Amino acid sequence: MSTLISEAAATGRPLGILAALPQELGDLIEAMRAESGVRTVTHGRRDYHVGTVHGTPCVVTLARVGKVAAAVTASALIHAFDVEAIVFTGVAGGVGSDVRVGDIVVASTLLQHDIDASPLFPRFEVPLLGVSRFGVDAALADRLAAACERFVADEGAACAARFGTHEPRVHRGLIVSGDQFVASAAALGALRFALPDALAVEMEGAALAQVCHEYGVPCAVVRTISDTADDHAPASFMSFLTEIAGTYSNAILARFLAVPGSGG
Ligand code: ADE
Repeated sequence: MSTLISEAAATGRPLGILAALPQELGDLIEAMRAESGVRTVTHGRRDYHVGTVHGTPCVVTLARVGKVAAAVTASALIHAFDVEAIVFTGVAGGVGSDVRVGDIVVASTLLQHDIDASPLFPRFEVPLLGVSRFGVDAALADRLAAACERFVADEGAACAARFGTHEPRVHRGLIVSGDQFVASAAALGALRFALPDALAVEMEGAALAQVCHEYGVPCAVVRTISDTADDHAPASFMSFLTEIAGTYSNAILARFLAVPGSGG
């Protein structure tokens, strides 16, 4: 691993790009292969793809699903690959009342909705860290949101027509994460009641944000809404993941990475 770190020092530190599932990365690894070639390093049962894509040196990998998976992968990106910043891309369930399938949410804060050591510590607070809402890097999140806005302006109407969704909108705010796929009106209602400002729910982002907070590494999270976390969520999630998620990811990441300074 020390070779990787010295290579990064010579060329500028890379940006880490994470998703949980392959469909959420779109064609990013193929685009990297075509642009610079890919060096794949296997570490802790994951493949890390190192190269340049859309002009930005990157390490791209799949975290797999859940908070522990996201945390160990983020930690490896920081310690074994010396990334300058980390961006997580993928899908999420819509929680905010005006957040619809096909919309995009860029996190401004993230919280673990399933952490609860009360009454010893306040509900949602990570014990002994004293944080419940983890911040993101403002400049990185601004650039990510700008890329999403450009995508929506360029291709939003065509996407809506092609996929039969609403014209997408970009939201910014709280994303909540937990080790559950939220898929019932009751579970959604409980989340909304406990966290009225939550816009979206997924299973990794707040774990990434905690690791990045602890190590002082900038991060940002972007999620496309695949379902509305209700009884229809499993079917909506599966069809969005297989048919649409890659298109969004390709379009957003291409616009984000092509802007100089995307590495944080
Ligand atoms: N990711 C996408 N949809 C989700 C949901 N409904 N719950 C948790 N994670 C998700």
